[in-house]
Amino acid sequence: MALALDDYRLLGRSGLRVSPLALGTATFGTEWGWGAERAEARQLFDRYVGLGGNLLDTADTYTEGSSERLLGEFVHEERERLVLATKYSTLRRPGDPNSGGGHRKALFGSVEGSLRRLGTDYLDLLYLHVWDFRTPVEEVLRGLDDLVRQGKVLYVAISNTPAWQVSRMQAIADLRGWSPLVALQVEYSLIERTAERDLIPMARELGLGVVPYSPLGGGVLSGKYGREDVGATGAGPDGSTRRSHNLALGTLTERSLGVAGVVRELAGEMGHTPAQVALAWTLRKPGVTSTLLGARTPAQLEDNLAALAVELTDTQLARLDAAGAIALGQPHDLLASEPIRQVTTGGLRIETRR
Ligand SMILES: NC(=O)c1ccc[n+]([C@@H]2O[C@H](COP(=O)([O-])OP(=O)(O)OC[C@H]3O[C@@H](n4cnc5c(N)ncnc54)[C@H](OP(=O)(O)O)[C@@H]3O)[C@@H](O)[C@H]2O)c1
Repeated sequence: MALALDDYRLLGRSGLRVSPLALGTATFGTEWGWGAERAEARQLFDRYVGLGGNLLDTADTYTEGSSERLLGEFVHEERERLVLATKYSTLRRPGDPNSGGGHRKALFGSVEGSLRRLGTDYLDLLYLHVWDFRTPVEEVLRGLDDLVRQGKVLYVAISNTPAWQVSRMQAIADLRGWSPLVALQVEYSLIERTAERDLIPMARELGLGVVPYSPLGGGVLSGKYGREDVGATGAGPDGSTRRSHNLALGTLTERSLGVAGVVRELAGEMGHTPAQVALAWTLRKPGVTSTLLGARTPAQLEDNLAALAVELTDTQLARLDAAGAIALGQPHDLLASEPIRQVTTGGLRIETRR
């Protein structure tokens, strides 16, 4: 069934209602060399919010603070009905070892900066952006919970952290009565499916809504790149700004172009664009609550929003799944094997939660 931005869903184990597509704002501002100027960013915001979209995603570090500043300017009158999500932990001020990291000083400093730039008294959702391998997780969780109790943050969430650590953190939060993690932001697309091994099953089990980022692999799944772009330099096709970034991140490869080729073929048969089909695939995946859109121009946003209308049959979904398949590895392969399933289920049909 076709979806709309105002078909709100609950985010993880919370009562917070969010749109099935969120607006990523890492493209608000040009400081990183691949974003939108103020006027175009405003158009992206107005279009998304005008259609009933309510989940806006930013971070303290995006475009050196411009993303939060522009968003703060745009949300002004709509503040109450919007869900503002930001992130902390990746700030780096030269000479200040405490500017970044997961710890309490970085957390409180970052939140004050975000509140100021966003021009608001509270953040609806705050993510730990990247786990730092160092700060005791009790310190992270207690700091997040303190901010919730102070009313500066309403819900807390996590990104870029191994599944074993997130599940440990959720258990600690539950046992101590601290605010639970309600969302997991993770790179997830037809060309990056490793989250299916442990992160997504964990999120489903522990009540974290999955919010996929880079759902087009930085634009690769829009089908605009060809083999000539692998290893090329300079501006990409169709005014693309992210070719060199995608090459550096390893999302633009022979393998990902192969997957993008299958998406393009199916999209052609269905009368949709490849970007719409690739985004629709994420919307059909178990555990996904809201997929993060990345768009630099109004035309790209329009294209991406139309993913809500794409209906994939089981056969089409299976074709896409096969194109982007990865080995799950152990213990998943063993657990999925027929002899083990017979032994462990005792003949019952059970869901494998992949
Ligand atoms: N938690 C994290 O660590 C993390 C990491 C990354 C992103 N995020 C969040 O996720 C959001 C989305 O991530 P993303 O920007 O990587 O998403 P993406 O959708 O994979 O890539 C977006 C890029 O693809 C191109 N594009 C988008 N729509 C297109 C279309 N219809 N046709 C052709 N090209 C298109 C544009 O690049 P060109 O300029 O080249 O056209 C655009 O900048 C971000 O804004 C941010 O909020 C979070």
